[in-house]
Amino acid sequence: MAILALETSCDETSVAVLRQGMVTQLTASQIDVHRLTGGVVPEIAAREHVPVMMPLVQQVMTQANITATDIERIAVTTGPGLITSLMVGVETARTLAYAWDKPIFPINHIEGHIAANFLSGQAVAWPAVALVVSGGHTELLYVPQPGTYQLIGKTRDDAAGECFDKTARILGLPYPGGPAIAQQAATGDVTQYSFPTPMLDSPNFDFSFSGLKTAVLYFYRDHPAASIPNVCAAIEQAIITVLVAKTQRAVAQYQAKAVLVGGGVAANQLLRELLSSVGVPVYIPALEYCTDNAAMIAAACQWHNQPADLFSFSANPNWELTPR
Ligand code: KG4
Ligand code: ZN
Repeated sequence: MAILALETSCDETSVAVLRQGMVTQLTASQIDVHRLTGGVVPEIAAREHVPVMMPLVQQVMTQANITATDIERIAVTTGPGLITSLMVGVETARTLAYAWDKPIFPINHIEGHIAANFLSGQAVAWPAVALVVSGGHTELLYVPQPGTYQLIGKTRDDAAGECFDKTARILGLPYPGGPAIAQQAATGDVTQYSFPTPMLDSPNFDFSFSGLKTAVLYFYRDHPAASIPNVCAAIEQAIITVLVAKTQRAVAQYQAKAVLVGGGVAANQLLRELLSSVGVPVYIPALEYCTDNAAMIAAACQWHNQPADLFSFSANPNWELTPR
């Protein structure tokens, strides 16, 4: 099967062709634009998608040596995400599906992050627990089998990646904050400072990171001479400790046989290290498939059989994965 997939949920314009397990993908990053504002401004993100969208489709199809005739399905991220960014991908996909008379598959972005683990063709034991951690999402899902999900916990305020980004900004570090904090933390002493680990002991799988952000804000205001590497080590430790502890508890409660990780924060080395002790195999996609990408949307499309009616779906910024 040949699938053409588009992903524009936030600030990456990504197009992929997945054909017989082979991925051809091009992603245009807006990171330099958003670095100027220290974060993603939704209207700017949407506008940046427009001029690169169709050139990317053409380049990917050329690289994949494929014509419109060869494409069997068009898959597009339909939510969750930034509404205006999503609309660029959805309307492009709708237009192509109409012009080329192809079935269209609206795909959930979180399902895409989970499905990214299957791009390498590996076998996974079920049931699994999925941890999706990015700048926009922090979610734990119970996944009894591919295509079936139960959301068991999510952040009540900031996402884990957002917490990295915002605390980095407080400390004067560049955007995106996750890699910047991890880099500083690598030379820091984690025992020097300690920040709150919100909801660590709450009897559920929810998260909350805005209190940690505020704690860093006040701490740095009151201790402007504090060692940045030491502060970063403590921030990273606090965020990752909560993520790993809740994942471990979810594995135990749901008797999961595997953990599937996705989202940009999956690049974090401490997360990778600590997750390796949860007691079941942990799957983390290659870096280019952890961050937002279209190949993962094509991978998730393979789990579906029913295309959507071309004119009866639209971008849904709050689309939550529900059991089915
Ligand atoms: O999935 P992604 O590319 O975009 C979305 O937010 O959907 O994730 C980006 C997030 C940012 O918040 C960034 O700071 C974080 O992933 N991130 C990291 C690392 N690399 C990227 N967080 C912690 N450690 C990292 N090494
Ligand atoms: Zn994402």
